[in-house]
Amino acid sequence: ALQRTFSIIKPDATRRNLTGAINAKLEAAGLRIIAQKRIHLTLAQAQTFYGVHKDRPFFGELTEFMSSGPIVAQVLEAEDAVLKNREVMGATNPADAAPGTIRKEFALSIGENSIHGSDGPETAAQEIAYFFSGLELVG
Ligand code: CMP
Repeated sequence: ALQRTFSIIKPDATRRNLTGAINAKLEAAGLRIIAQKRIHLTLAQAQTFYGVHKDRPFFGELTEFMSSGPIVAQVLEAEDAVLKNREVMGATNPADAAPGTIRKEFALSIGENSIHGSDGPETAAQEIAYFFSGLELVG
């Protein structure tokens, strides 16, 4: 079914001017960018967004990195968008990512891995609602 997922182009990618190259890969995979905004998160906003990871050893590193520079928050729409997006992103660790995926081509490390994508439809709905109002979703 037609589905929406949430995506973030991370600070390591915006810093290297890769927003367009990453968007080209998303679009080539059949994902439609129906909302998009460039913002700079505060540390507190990054901590709220990644709250599910608050007990992980990398939480401090993750939230400091995600608030270290501009991000591009996006809503992507497609048939099976969550899965499609996870396929084009590739594995979290770029060393494990398949050839042609965004993380294989662009990611620097497991932390500076260029892109975030929702892990399921319920998470996607929560993540979209944290960043966008209904009026900003233009399908
Ligand atoms: P993301 O999809 O944004 O969701 C959580 C993030 O935590 C993940 O991508 C990784 O970038 C990051 N992450 C996971 N494991 C580690 C780690 N061992 N060290 C630093 N960051 C990590």
